[in-house]
Amino acid sequence: MTRLHDILLSIFVVRALGLPTPQIGDYGENSGPVGGVDPPTPTVTSISGSLRGDSSLLGGNAPLPNPDDHPASVQDPQLVNGQEADAKLGLYLDFNSANPPQPIRGDNGATDPGPRTFDYEKLNPDLYAPPGTDSGSLPSLMWPMGLSHNRPGSQKGAGWARQQNTDVLPIAKAMAGVDMRLAPNAYRELHWHTAGEWALMLKGCVRVAAINDEGQSFVDDVCEGDVWFFPPGDPHSIQAFDEGAEFLLVFDDGNFNEDGTFLVSELFLRNPIEVLSKDLHADVSAFDNLPTGQLYIFNGTPAPKNISAQNITSSAGALTGNASFTYHWSQQAPHTVPGGSVKILDPLTFPVAPMFSAALVTVQPGAMRELHWHTTSPEWAFFLQGSGRLTAFSAPASSRTFDFTAGGVGYIPTAFSHYVENTGDEDLVFLEVLQAPKFSDISVAQWLALTPKQVVKDHLHLPDDVIDNLPLEKPIIRTGNRNLTALAGGGKAF
Ligand SMILES: *[C@@H]1O[C@H](CO)[C@@H](O)[C@H](O)[C@H]1NC(C)=O
Ligand SMILES: *[C@@H]1O[C@H](CO)[C@@H](O)[C@H](O)[C@H]1NC(C)=O
Ligand SMILES: *[C@@H]1O[C@H](CO)[C@@H](O)[C@H](O)[C@H]1NC(C)=O
Ligand SMILES: *[C@@H]1O[C@H](CO)[C@@H](O)[C@H](O)[C@H]1NC(C)=O
Repeated sequence: MTRLHDILLSIFVVRALGLPTPQIGDYGENSGPVGGVDPPTPTVTSISGSLRGDSSLLGGNAPLPNPDDHPASVQDPQLVNGQEADAKLGLYLDFNSANPPQPIRGDNGATDPGPRTFDYEKLNPDLYAPPGTDSGSLPSLMWPMGLSHNRPGSQKGAGWARQQNTDVLPIAKAMAGVDMRLAPNAYRELHWHTAGEWALMLKGCVRVAAINDEGQSFVDDVCEGDVWFFPPGDPHSIQAFDEGAEFLLVFDDGNFNEDGTFLVSELFLRNPIEVLSKDLHADVSAFDNLPTGQLYIFNGTPAPKNISAQNITSSAGALTGNASFTYHWSQQAPHTVPGGSVKILDPLTFPVAPMFSAALVTVQPGAMRELHWHTTSPEWAFFLQGSGRLTAFSAPASSRTFDFTAGGVGYIPTAFSHYVENTGDEDLVFLEVLQAPKFSDISVAQWLALTPKQVVKDHLHLPDDVIDNLPLEKPIIRTGNRNLTALAGGGKAF
Protein backbone atom coordinates (compact mmCIF):
# COMPACT_ATOMS: atom_id res chain seq x y z
CA MET A 1 0.00 0.00 0.00
CA THR A 2 2.80 2.37 0.97
CA ARG A 3 4.74 1.20 -2.06
CA LEU A 4 1.89 2.01 -4.44
CA HIS A 5 1.57 5.37 -2.78
CA ASP A 6 5.29 6.02 -3.39
CA ILE A 7 4.98 5.02 -7.03
CA LEU A 8 1.99 7.27 -7.64
CA LEU A 9 3.67 10.11 -5.79
CA SER A 10 6.85 9.79 -7.83
CA ILE A 11 4.88 9.78 -11.08
CA PHE A 12 3.00 12.85 -9.92
CA VAL A 13 6.21 14.66 -8.97
CA VAL A 14 7.90 13.76 -12.25
CA ARG A 15 4.90 14.93 -14.29
CA ALA A 16 4.48 18.10 -12.25
CA LEU A 17 8.10 19.03 -12.93
CA GLY A 18 7.53 18.49 -16.64
CA LEU A 19 10.26 15.87 -16.83
CA PRO A 20 10.07 12.99 -19.29
CA THR A 21 8.00 10.11 -17.94
CA PRO A 22 10.47 7.46 -16.74
CA GLN A 23 10.10 4.13 -18.46
CA ILE A 24 12.35 2.10 -16.18
CA GLY A 25 12.32 2.47 -12.47
CA ASP A 26 8.69 2.82 -11.52
CA TYR A 27 7.95 -0.86 -11.68
CA GLY A 28 11.43 -2.18 -12.42
CA GLU A 29 12.31 -2.79 -8.82
CA ASN A 30 10.80 -4.75 -6.04
CA SER A 31 11.02 -3.26 -2.60
CA GLY A 32 9.15 -6.06 -0.90
CA PRO A 33 6.92 -9.04 -1.44
CA VAL A 34 5.09 -8.56 -4.73
CA GLY A 35 1.96 -10.25 -3.41
CA GLY A 36 1.26 -7.39 -1.00
CA VAL A 37 1.29 -4.61 -3.58
CA ASP A 38 -1.91 -3.63 -5.38
CA PRO A 39 -1.08 -3.27 -9.07
CA PRO A 40 -2.22 0.01 -10.70
CA THR A 41 -5.50 -0.37 -12.59
CA PRO A 42 -4.78 -0.69 -16.32
CA THR A 43 -5.82 2.52 -18.09
CA VAL A 44 -4.82 1.63 -21.67
CA THR A 45 -7.79 0.44 -23.77
CA SER A 46 -6.58 0.93 -27.35
CA ILE A 47 -3.41 0.20 -29.26
CA SER A 48 -1.12 3.09 -30.10
CA GLY A 49 2.56 3.79 -30.75
CA SER A 50 5.21 1.94 -32.76
CA LEU A 51 7.18 -1.04 -31.59
CA ARG A 52 10.52 0.54 -32.58
CA GLY A 53 12.05 4.00 -32.68
CA ASP A 54 13.86 5.46 -35.71
CA SER A 55 17.37 6.56 -36.64
CA SER A 56 16.87 9.98 -35.06
CA LEU A 57 17.59 8.28 -31.71
CA LEU A 58 21.00 6.96 -32.71
CA GLY A 59 23.87 8.46 -30.76
CA GLY A 60 25.05 11.53 -32.67
CA ASN A 61 21.57 12.15 -34.09
CA ALA A 62 19.61 12.39 -30.86
CA PRO A 63 19.67 15.54 -28.72
CA LEU A 64 22.07 15.24 -25.76
CA PRO A 65 20.33 14.44 -22.46
CA ASN A 66 20.79 16.69 -19.46
CA PRO A 67 22.39 14.50 -16.75
CA ASP A 68 20.95 16.82 -14.10
CA ASP A 69 17.47 15.57 -15.05
CA HIS A 70 18.39 11.95 -14.24
CA PRO A 71 19.19 11.51 -10.58
CA ALA A 72 20.53 8.11 -9.58
CA SER A 73 20.86 8.73 -5.89
CA VAL A 74 19.45 6.98 -2.84
CA GLN A 75 17.82 9.21 -0.24
CA ASP A 76 18.68 8.41 3.39
CA PRO A 77 20.33 5.03 2.85
CA GLN A 78 19.90 2.88 5.93
CA LEU A 79 23.01 1.13 7.19
CA VAL A 80 22.84 -1.70 9.72
CA ASN A 81 24.98 -2.44 12.75
CA GLY A 82 28.53 -3.32 11.67
CA GLN A 83 28.15 -2.09 8.10
CA GLU A 84 30.52 0.84 8.51
CA ALA A 85 33.21 -1.24 10.22
CA ASP A 86 36.41 -2.12 8.34
CA ALA A 87 35.44 -4.34 5.39
CA LYS A 88 38.20 -6.87 6.24
CA LEU A 89 36.63 -7.39 9.68
CA GLY A 90 33.79 -8.96 7.69
CA LEU A 91 31.10 -8.75 10.40
CA TYR A 92 27.84 -10.53 9.66
CA LEU A 93 25.34 -7.91 8.47
CA ASP A 94 21.73 -8.45 9.53
CA PHE A 95 19.83 -6.72 6.74
CA ASN A 96 16.38 -7.57 8.12
CA SER A 97 15.91 -4.10 9.58
CA ALA A 98 17.16 -2.26 6.47
CA ASN A 99 14.53 -1.24 3.91
CA PRO A 100 16.13 -1.56 1.46
CA PRO A 101 19.62 -2.83 2.34
CA GLN A 102 22.61 -1.20 0.64
CA PRO A 103 25.66 -3.02 -0.79
CA ILE A 104 28.14 -1.15 1.37
CA ARG A 105 30.77 -2.52 3.70
CA GLY A 106 33.36 -0.22 5.26
CA ASP A 107 34.96 1.71 2.41
CA ASN A 108 33.73 -0.83 -0.16
CA GLY A 109 30.67 -0.48 -2.34
CA ALA A 110 28.03 2.21 -2.86
CA THR A 111 24.26 2.62 -2.64
CA ASP A 112 21.94 0.77 -5.04
CA PRO A 113 19.30 2.94 -6.75
CA GLY A 114 18.32 0.38 -9.40
CA PRO A 115 16.18 -2.71 -9.78
CA ARG A 116 16.85 -5.29 -7.14
CA THR A 117 15.89 -8.73 -5.92
CA PHE A 118 15.08 -7.39 -2.49
CA ASP A 119 14.44 -10.54 -0.47
CA TYR A 120 17.43 -12.39 -1.90
CA GLU A 121 19.69 -9.54 -0.82
CA LYS A 122 18.34 -9.71 2.72
CA LEU A 123 18.96 -13.45 2.80
CA ASN A 124 22.45 -13.14 1.28
CA PRO A 125 24.18 -10.15 2.90
CA ASP A 126 27.63 -11.70 2.34
CA LEU A 127 27.06 -11.85 -1.42
CA TYR A 128 25.50 -8.36 -1.61
CA ALA A 129 28.04 -6.65 0.66
CA PRO A 130 30.94 -9.15 0.75
CA PRO A 131 33.57 -9.18 3.47
CA GLY A 132 36.66 -7.26 2.30
CA THR A 133 38.60 -10.53 2.45
CA ASP A 134 36.50 -12.16 -0.30
CA SER A 135 38.54 -12.28 -3.46
CA GLY A 136 38.56 -13.50 -7.03
CA SER A 137 35.95 -15.71 -8.53
CA LEU A 138 34.32 -18.92 -7.28
CA PRO A 139 31.34 -20.76 -8.74
CA SER A 140 28.21 -20.80 -6.60
CA LEU A 141 28.49 -23.27 -3.73
CA MET A 142 24.87 -23.00 -2.62
CA TRP A 143 21.42 -24.03 -3.70
CA PRO A 144 18.31 -23.36 -1.60
CA MET A 145 15.77 -26.19 -2.01
CA GLY A 146 13.19 -23.37 -2.13
CA LEU A 147 14.37 -22.68 -5.70
CA SER A 148 13.94 -26.30 -6.78
CA HIS A 149 11.01 -27.44 -8.90
CA ASN A 150 8.75 -29.58 -6.73
CA ARG A 151 7.40 -32.71 -8.40
CA PRO A 152 4.04 -33.86 -6.98
CA GLY A 153 3.23 -37.55 -6.59
CA SER A 154 0.91 -39.32 -9.04
CA GLN A 155 -2.09 -39.22 -6.67
CA LYS A 156 -3.88 -36.46 -4.81
CA GLY A 157 -2.11 -35.52 -1.60
CA ALA A 158 0.35 -38.44 -1.75
CA GLY A 159 3.52 -36.36 -1.50
CA TRP A 160 6.23 -34.61 -3.47
CA ALA A 161 9.98 -34.46 -4.09
CA ARG A 162 12.40 -31.70 -4.98
CA GLN A 163 16.04 -32.13 -5.85
CA GLN A 164 19.43 -30.48 -6.14
CA ASN A 165 21.79 -31.93 -8.75
CA THR A 166 24.32 -30.60 -11.28
CA ASP A 167 21.46 -29.06 -13.32
CA VAL A 168 21.15 -26.39 -10.63
CA LEU A 169 24.54 -26.57 -8.84
CA PRO A 170 27.10 -27.53 -11.53
CA ILE A 171 30.07 -27.66 -9.14
CA ALA A 172 28.45 -30.47 -7.11
CA LYS A 173 29.74 -33.37 -9.21
CA ALA A 174 30.17 -35.99 -6.47
CA MET A 175 26.79 -35.82 -4.69
CA ALA A 176 23.17 -34.78 -5.25
CA GLY A 177 20.25 -34.38 -2.85
CA VAL A 178 16.50 -34.96 -2.79
CA ASP A 179 14.00 -33.70 -0.20
CA MET A 180 10.96 -36.05 -0.24
CA ARG A 181 7.56 -35.95 1.42
CA LEU A 182 5.26 -38.95 1.82
CA ALA A 183 1.71 -38.44 3.09
CA PRO A 184 0.35 -40.92 5.67
CA ASN A 185 0.78 -44.50 4.34
CA ALA A 186 2.06 -43.23 0.96
CA TYR A 187 4.81 -45.07 -0.91
CA ARG A 188 7.86 -44.05 -2.86
CA GLU A 189 7.31 -46.62 -5.62
CA LEU A 190 9.51 -49.76 -5.67
CA HIS A 191 12.57 -48.85 -7.74
CA TRP A 192 16.33 -49.02 -8.19
CA HIS A 193 19.06 -46.77 -9.62
CA THR A 194 22.74 -46.66 -10.46
CA ALA A 195 23.74 -44.40 -7.54
CA GLY A 196 24.11 -45.36 -3.89
CA GLU A 197 21.37 -43.80 -1.72
CA TRP A 198 22.05 -42.51 1.79
CA ALA A 199 19.10 -41.00 3.65
CA LEU A 200 18.38 -39.03 6.80
CA MET A 201 14.84 -39.10 8.19
CA LEU A 202 13.69 -35.49 8.79
CA LYS A 203 10.16 -36.06 10.17
CA GLY A 204 7.90 -39.01 10.91
CA CYS A 205 8.63 -42.69 10.32
CA VAL A 206 8.83 -45.04 7.33
CA ARG A 207 9.23 -48.77 6.73
CA VAL A 208 12.01 -49.58 4.28
CA ALA A 209 12.55 -52.91 2.55
CA ALA A 210 15.23 -54.06 0.11
CA ILE A 211 17.19 -57.03 -1.17
CA ASN A 212 20.71 -57.49 -2.49
CA ASP A 213 22.20 -59.55 -5.32
CA GLU A 214 22.71 -62.56 -3.02
CA GLY A 215 18.96 -62.72 -2.35
CA GLN A 216 19.43 -61.51 1.21
CA SER A 217 16.52 -59.37 2.36
CA PHE A 218 16.07 -56.48 4.72
CA VAL A 219 13.15 -54.69 6.38
CA ASP A 220 13.22 -52.07 9.14
CA ASP A 221 11.35 -49.06 10.54
CA VAL A 222 13.18 -45.73 10.85
CA CYS A 223 12.10 -42.39 12.36
CA GLU A 224 13.33 -38.79 12.59
CA GLY A 225 17.14 -38.69 12.86
CA ASP A 226 17.70 -42.25 11.58
CA VAL A 227 19.63 -43.21 8.44
CA TRP A 228 19.41 -45.82 5.68
CA PHE A 229 21.65 -46.76 2.79
CA PHE A 230 20.77 -48.71 -0.36
CA PRO A 231 23.76 -49.83 -2.48
CA PRO A 232 23.73 -49.06 -6.22
CA GLY A 233 21.30 -51.28 -8.10
CA ASP A 234 19.62 -52.80 -5.01
CA PRO A 235 15.82 -52.47 -5.39
CA HIS A 236 13.93 -50.96 -2.44
CA SER A 237 10.61 -49.67 -1.16
CA ILE A 238 9.76 -46.87 1.25
CA GLN A 239 6.34 -46.49 2.89
CA ALA A 240 5.27 -43.86 5.41
CA PHE A 241 3.38 -44.78 8.57
CA ASP A 242 0.12 -43.17 9.73
CA GLU A 243 1.70 -39.77 10.49
CA GLY A 244 3.46 -39.37 7.14
CA ALA A 245 7.13 -38.60 6.69
CA GLU A 246 9.78 -36.35 5.13
CA PHE A 247 13.35 -37.40 4.44
CA LEU A 248 16.55 -36.24 2.80
CA LEU A 249 18.25 -38.46 0.23
CA VAL A 250 21.93 -38.02 -0.67
CA PHE A 251 23.27 -39.79 -3.78
CA ASP A 252 26.93 -40.47 -4.62
CA ASP A 253 26.52 -38.97 -8.11
CA GLY A 254 26.05 -35.25 -8.76
CA ASN A 255 24.16 -36.02 -11.98
CA PHE A 256 21.58 -38.17 -10.16
CA ASN A 257 18.05 -37.44 -11.36
CA GLU A 258 15.13 -38.44 -9.14
CA ASP A 259 12.94 -38.45 -12.26
CA GLY A 260 15.20 -41.02 -13.94
CA THR A 261 15.02 -44.05 -11.63
CA PHE A 262 14.01 -47.59 -12.69
CA LEU A 263 10.39 -47.95 -11.51
CA VAL A 264 8.60 -51.27 -11.06
CA SER A 265 5.55 -49.88 -12.92
CA GLU A 266 7.68 -49.06 -15.97
CA LEU A 267 9.47 -52.45 -15.72
CA PHE A 268 6.11 -54.16 -16.20
CA LEU A 269 4.86 -51.71 -18.84
CA ARG A 270 8.01 -52.00 -20.97
CA ASN A 271 8.21 -55.79 -21.36
CA PRO A 272 6.02 -58.04 -23.59
CA ILE A 273 3.17 -59.58 -21.61
CA GLU A 274 4.18 -62.95 -23.07
CA VAL A 275 7.55 -62.50 -21.35
CA LEU A 276 5.93 -61.43 -18.07
CA SER A 277 3.65 -64.48 -18.22
CA LYS A 278 6.68 -66.75 -18.68
CA ASP A 279 8.79 -64.93 -16.08
CA LEU A 280 6.25 -65.06 -13.26
CA HIS A 281 4.48 -68.26 -14.42
CA ALA A 282 1.20 -66.37 -14.49
CA ASP A 283 -1.74 -66.39 -16.87
CA VAL A 284 -1.68 -63.51 -19.37
CA SER A 285 -4.86 -62.17 -17.72
CA ALA A 286 -2.93 -61.67 -14.47
CA PHE A 287 -1.48 -58.51 -16.02
CA ASP A 288 -4.86 -56.94 -16.94
CA ASN A 289 -4.75 -54.48 -14.03
CA LEU A 290 -1.16 -53.26 -14.19
CA PRO A 291 -0.81 -49.53 -13.55
CA THR A 292 -1.11 -47.58 -16.80
CA GLY A 293 1.73 -45.18 -15.94
CA GLN A 294 4.31 -44.36 -13.29
CA LEU A 295 3.13 -44.58 -9.68
CA TYR A 296 6.18 -42.67 -8.34
CA ILE A 297 4.69 -41.34 -5.07
CA PHE A 298 1.21 -42.75 -4.37
CA ASN A 299 -1.20 -43.67 -1.59
CA GLY A 300 -0.94 -47.11 0.00
CA THR A 301 -2.60 -49.64 2.29
CA PRO A 302 -1.36 -49.02 5.87
CA ALA A 303 1.62 -51.22 6.72
CA PRO A 304 1.01 -53.76 9.50
CA LYS A 305 2.59 -52.42 12.70
CA ASN A 306 4.10 -55.85 13.42
CA ILE A 307 7.14 -55.87 11.12
CA SER A 308 7.36 -59.69 11.29
CA ALA A 309 4.35 -59.80 8.96
CA GLN A 310 6.52 -58.15 6.26
CA ASN A 311 9.78 -59.98 6.90
CA ILE A 312 10.40 -62.51 4.15
CA THR A 313 13.68 -64.36 3.81
CA SER A 314 15.19 -66.84 1.35
CA SER A 315 17.78 -69.47 2.21
CA ALA A 316 20.32 -66.61 2.01
CA GLY A 317 18.73 -65.09 5.10
CA ALA A 318 18.35 -61.50 6.24
CA LEU A 319 20.83 -58.63 6.10
CA THR A 320 21.74 -58.14 9.76
CA GLY A 321 24.58 -56.76 11.87
CA ASN A 322 27.22 -54.98 9.82
CA ALA A 323 25.27 -55.75 6.63
CA SER A 324 22.22 -53.81 7.90
CA PHE A 325 20.85 -51.13 5.55
CA THR A 326 19.79 -48.86 8.44
CA TYR A 327 21.41 -47.12 11.40
CA HIS A 328 19.27 -45.75 14.24
CA TRP A 329 21.34 -42.58 14.44
CA SER A 330 18.65 -40.76 16.44
CA GLN A 331 19.60 -42.96 19.42
CA GLN A 332 23.32 -42.07 19.27
CA ALA A 333 24.23 -39.59 22.02
CA PRO A 334 26.02 -36.51 20.63
CA HIS A 335 29.62 -35.60 21.44
CA THR A 336 29.25 -32.22 23.14
CA VAL A 337 31.88 -29.48 23.17
CA PRO A 338 31.76 -25.82 24.22
CA GLY A 339 29.54 -24.09 21.63
CA GLY A 340 27.65 -27.14 20.36
CA SER A 341 27.71 -30.83 19.59
CA VAL A 342 28.48 -33.31 16.83
CA LYS A 343 27.55 -36.88 15.90
CA ILE A 344 29.53 -38.84 13.32
CA LEU A 345 28.26 -41.76 11.23
CA ASP A 346 30.75 -43.33 8.85
CA PRO A 347 31.77 -46.81 7.64
CA LEU A 348 33.51 -47.50 10.97
CA THR A 349 30.03 -48.01 12.45
CA PHE A 350 27.82 -48.25 9.33
CA PRO A 351 29.91 -50.35 6.93
CA VAL A 352 27.18 -51.05 4.37
CA ALA A 353 27.72 -47.50 3.04
CA PRO A 354 31.47 -47.77 2.35
CA MET A 355 31.96 -44.18 1.15
CA PHE A 356 29.36 -42.19 3.13
CA SER A 357 30.83 -40.32 6.08
CA ALA A 358 28.51 -37.86 7.78
CA ALA A 359 28.52 -35.44 10.69
CA LEU A 360 25.40 -33.89 12.23
CA VAL A 361 26.55 -30.63 13.79
CA THR A 362 24.76 -28.30 16.22
CA VAL A 363 26.30 -24.84 16.64
CA GLN A 364 24.94 -22.51 19.33
CA PRO A 365 24.23 -18.82 18.61
CA GLY A 366 27.47 -16.86 18.18
CA ALA A 367 29.52 -20.07 17.92
CA MET A 368 31.16 -21.53 14.85
CA ARG A 369 32.12 -24.88 13.32
CA GLU A 370 35.87 -24.23 13.29
CA LEU A 371 37.97 -23.36 10.22
CA HIS A 372 38.86 -26.69 8.56
CA TRP A 373 38.99 -28.64 5.32
CA HIS A 374 38.42 -32.21 4.19
CA THR A 375 41.42 -34.03 2.79
CA THR A 376 40.06 -36.39 0.14
CA SER A 377 36.39 -35.54 -0.45
CA PRO A 378 34.14 -32.67 -1.27
CA GLU A 379 31.47 -31.91 1.34
CA TRP A 380 27.75 -31.93 0.57
CA ALA A 381 26.01 -29.96 3.31
CA PHE A 382 22.35 -29.55 4.20
CA PHE A 383 21.04 -26.98 6.65
CA LEU A 384 18.29 -28.37 8.89
CA GLN A 385 17.71 -25.46 11.27
CA GLY A 386 18.74 -21.84 11.80
CA SER A 387 21.03 -19.71 9.68
CA GLY A 388 24.74 -19.61 9.11
CA ARG A 389 27.46 -18.50 6.76
CA LEU A 390 30.68 -19.95 5.44
CA THR A 391 33.63 -18.69 3.46
CA ALA A 392 35.23 -21.12 1.03
CA PHE A 393 38.90 -20.47 0.24
CA SER A 394 40.32 -21.93 -2.96
CA ALA A 395 43.97 -21.92 -3.95
CA PRO A 396 45.65 -19.83 -5.01
CA ALA A 397 43.85 -16.68 -3.92
CA SER A 398 40.06 -16.86 -4.17
CA SER A 399 37.45 -16.83 -1.46
CA ARG A 400 33.74 -16.19 -1.33
CA THR A 401 31.24 -16.05 1.51
CA PHE A 402 27.78 -17.63 1.31
CA ASP A 403 24.78 -17.36 3.62
CA PHE A 404 22.53 -20.34 4.37
CA THR A 405 19.18 -20.90 6.01
CA ALA A 406 17.32 -24.12 6.80
CA GLY A 407 16.55 -25.94 3.56
CA GLY A 408 19.78 -24.86 1.87
CA VAL A 409 22.34 -27.14 0.22
CA GLY A 410 26.04 -26.26 0.29
CA TYR A 411 28.90 -27.90 -1.61
CA ILE A 412 32.56 -27.43 -0.69
CA PRO A 413 35.07 -28.89 -3.14
CA THR A 414 37.87 -31.12 -1.78
CA ALA A 415 40.54 -29.25 0.23
CA PHE A 416 38.74 -25.86 0.14
CA SER A 417 38.98 -24.43 3.67
CA HIS A 418 35.73 -23.32 5.30
CA TYR A 419 34.03 -22.59 8.62
CA VAL A 420 30.30 -22.48 9.42
CA GLU A 421 29.31 -19.59 11.68
CA ASN A 422 25.90 -19.40 13.34
CA THR A 423 24.47 -16.03 12.23
CA GLY A 424 21.09 -16.39 13.91
CA ASP A 425 19.48 -16.43 17.36
CA GLU A 426 18.75 -20.17 17.50
CA ASP A 427 20.88 -23.29 17.31
CA LEU A 428 22.25 -23.91 13.80
CA VAL A 429 21.91 -27.56 12.80
CA PHE A 430 23.49 -28.92 9.65
CA LEU A 431 24.64 -32.13 8.05
CA GLU A 432 28.07 -32.63 6.44
CA VAL A 433 28.31 -35.59 4.04
CA LEU A 434 31.61 -36.78 2.54
CA GLN A 435 32.50 -39.49 0.03
CA ALA A 436 35.16 -41.03 2.25
CA PRO A 437 35.75 -44.32 4.13
CA LYS A 438 36.13 -42.34 7.38
CA PHE A 439 34.94 -38.91 8.49
CA SER A 440 38.01 -36.71 8.55
CA ASP A 441 39.03 -33.09 8.53
CA ILE A 442 42.07 -30.92 9.18
CA SER A 443 41.57 -28.31 11.91
CA VAL A 444 43.47 -25.08 11.23
CA ALA A 445 43.80 -24.33 14.96
CA GLN A 446 45.12 -27.82 15.74
CA TRP A 447 47.50 -27.76 12.75
CA LEU A 448 49.09 -24.55 13.99
CA ALA A 449 49.19 -25.89 17.57
CA LEU A 450 51.13 -28.95 16.38
CA THR A 451 53.55 -26.90 14.25
CA PRO A 452 56.75 -25.64 15.94
CA LYS A 453 55.94 -22.28 17.54
CA GLN A 454 58.89 -20.55 15.89
CA VAL A 455 57.67 -21.69 12.49
CA VAL A 456 54.17 -20.32 13.12
CA LYS A 457 55.56 -17.05 14.45
CA ASP A 458 57.92 -16.56 11.51
CA HIS A 459 55.01 -17.08 9.08
CA LEU A 460 52.07 -15.27 10.65
CA HIS A 461 53.62 -12.88 13.19
CA LEU A 462 51.00 -13.86 15.77
CA PRO A 463 51.55 -12.73 19.39
CA ASP A 464 53.16 -15.34 21.68
CA ASP A 465 50.09 -15.69 23.90
CA VAL A 466 47.93 -16.61 20.90
CA ILE A 467 50.44 -19.26 19.80
CA ASP A 468 50.71 -20.58 23.37
CA ASN A 469 46.93 -20.97 23.60
CA LEU A 470 46.40 -22.90 20.36
CA PRO A 471 44.41 -26.11 21.03
CA LEU A 472 46.36 -29.36 20.85
CA GLU A 473 43.08 -31.25 20.50
CA LYS A 474 40.71 -30.57 17.62
CA PRO A 475 38.05 -28.16 18.97
CA ILE A 476 35.45 -28.96 16.21
CA ILE A 477 33.36 -25.98 17.36
CA ARG A 478 34.48 -22.61 18.76
CA THR A 479 32.39 -20.48 21.06
CA GLY A 480 31.73 -16.84 20.20
CA ASN A 481 29.44 -13.88 20.55
CA ARG A 482 27.63 -11.75 18.05
CA ASN A 483 28.03 -8.36 19.73
CA LEU A 484 28.96 -6.27 16.69
CA THR A 485 29.08 -3.10 18.73
CA ALA A 486 31.86 -4.63 20.75
CA LEU A 487 33.75 -5.73 17.64
CA ALA A 488 33.37 -2.74 15.34
CA GLY A 489 36.28 -0.99 17.01
CA GLY A 490 38.39 -4.14 17.49
CA GLY A 491 38.27 -6.58 20.40
CA LYS A 492 37.31 -10.24 20.55
CA ALA A 493 34.75 -12.24 18.57
CA PHE A 494 34.57 -14.93 21.26
C1 LIG B 1 4.37 -60.31 15.38
O1 LIG B 1 4.11 -61.33 14.48
C2 LIG B 1 4.86 -62.51 14.74
C3 LIG B 1 4.67 -63.48 13.58
O2 LIG B 1 3.35 -63.50 13.18
C4 LIG B 1 4.43 -63.09 16.09
O3 LIG B 1 5.17 -64.25 16.38
C5 LIG B 1 4.68 -62.02 17.15
O4 LIG B 1 4.21 -62.47 18.39
C6 LIG B 1 4.02 -60.71 16.80
N1 LIG B 1 4.44 -59.69 17.73
C7 LIG B 1 3.60 -58.89 18.33
C8 LIG B 1 4.21 -57.89 19.25
O5 LIG B 1 2.41 -58.98 18.16
C1 LIG C 1 13.62 -60.92 9.80
O1 LIG C 1 13.86 -62.28 9.96
C2 LIG C 1 15.22 -62.65 10.10
C3 LIG C 1 15.31 -64.13 10.25
O2 LIG C 1 14.79 -64.77 9.14
C4 LIG C 1 15.83 -61.97 11.29
O3 LIG C 1 17.21 -62.25 11.33
C5 LIG C 1 15.61 -60.48 11.19
O4 LIG C 1 16.07 -59.86 12.38
C6 LIG C 1 14.15 -60.16 10.99
N1 LIG C 1 13.97 -58.75 10.82
C7 LIG C 1 13.14 -58.04 11.58
C8 LIG C 1 13.09 -56.55 11.30
O5 LIG C 1 12.47 -58.54 12.45
C1 LIG D 1 30.99 -55.13 12.78
O1 LIG D 1 32.32 -55.07 12.32
C2 LIG D 1 33.22 -54.68 13.34
C3 LIG D 1 34.59 -54.52 12.70
O2 LIG D 1 34.96 -55.65 11.98
C4 LIG D 1 33.22 -55.71 14.45
O3 LIG D 1 34.08 -55.28 15.49
C5 LIG D 1 31.82 -55.83 15.00
O4 LIG D 1 31.76 -56.84 15.96
C6 LIG D 1 30.83 -56.13 13.89
N1 LIG D 1 29.48 -56.04 14.44
C7 LIG D 1 28.57 -56.96 14.20
C8 LIG D 1 27.25 -56.73 14.84
O5 LIG D 1 28.78 -57.93 13.50
C1 LIG E 1 28.14 -5.06 23.27
O1 LIG E 1 29.41 -4.50 23.51
C2 LIG E 1 29.38 -3.16 23.89
C3 LIG E 1 30.82 -2.64 23.94
O2 LIG E 1 31.66 -3.53 24.63
C4 LIG E 1 28.66 -3.04 25.24
O3 LIG E 1 28.60 -1.70 25.65
C5 LIG E 1 27.25 -3.60 25.07
O4 LIG E 1 26.60 -3.63 26.31
C6 LIG E 1 27.28 -5.00 24.50
N1 LIG E 1 25.94 -5.42 24.18
C7 LIG E 1 25.43 -6.56 24.60
C8 LIG E 1 24.02 -6.87 24.14
O5 LIG E 1 26.03 -7.34 25.29
